[in-house]
Amino acid sequence: MEERVKSGVPGLDDILGGGLFRGQTYGITGGPGAGKSILSMEFLVRGAERGERGLYVTSEVPADKLARQIPFGSLQGHIDNGDLIVFSTRPLPGEVTTNTEKFDLAGLTYMVKHYVRNNDIKRVVFDSVNAFVQQYDDRRPLRRELNNLVAMLESYGCTTLLVFEGDSATSDPSVEFLVDGVIELGRIETHQDVVRYAQVRKMRGTAHDLNKRAMEIGEQGILITNIKPFYGD
Ligand SMILES: Nc1ncnc2c1ncn2[C@@H]1O[C@H](COP(=O)(O)OP(=O)(O)OP(=O)(O)O)[C@@H](O)[C@H]1O
Ligand SMILES: [Mg+2]
Repeated sequence: MEERVKSGVPGLDDILGGGLFRGQTYGITGGPGAGKSILSMEFLVRGAERGERGLYVTSEVPADKLARQIPFGSLQGHIDNGDLIVFSTRPLPGEVTTNTEKFDLAGLTYMVKHYVRNNDIKRVVFDSVNAFVQQYDDRRPLRRELNNLVAMLESYGCTTLLVFEGDSATSDPSVEFLVDGVIELGRIETHQDVVRYAQVRKMRGTAHDLNKRAMEIGEQGILITNIKPFYGD
């Protein structure tokens, strides 16, 4: 029986049937503002609180902006004491390196392996993987490189979230099959309300909640409830 690791994100472990599996890789999908970054950052913060070091790899936001976006937990504190490492593939203003080409998936795997090994990292987030995926016109090398990345993380026992911008990792089936689970975040609009939801689309090796569940984002972070969002009128 594989070991469960509690994400620590309120409500998430319940819809996952008890938590994530250690060493496995999960996709987080959803459109703009769906909560992908906040949820995956909270996964790292809750991990750090439980003694699991985290690595956040981002192509989107310079590292120094992140702490301001996360209102809950002590993100900055965890960064300061080394329990949470933020690596931005986008240089900060004033930095001379603008060559992002070196961060193809193979280069990224090499770099991440270095961090994981030297810092005893147990949780990893890639926010997002789209920029890396887009570098590949051909699916075959993409699949191979992603496989190598996932296998490396598994060999070090890292539980990993891959953030995909867009409705679903299913827009690229080769990617969907690669991950051990998919959590979709989104919004449902009715004539008078907009409700956030989280839904487990796939979770290898366990029964899980199949329903969309209402999700809230607030000063305390993410809260996934057992309420089914209201459909239509
Ligand atoms: N303190 C807060 N209280 C309530 N809602 C918040 C708070 N902070 C952020 N949000 C909500 O979370 C949204 C941003 O979530 P997040 O950045 O995780 O989305 P995302 O899925 O990563 O989007 P993108 O694909 O654009 O990166 C905001 O648009 C806002 O609606
Ligand atoms: Mg984001």
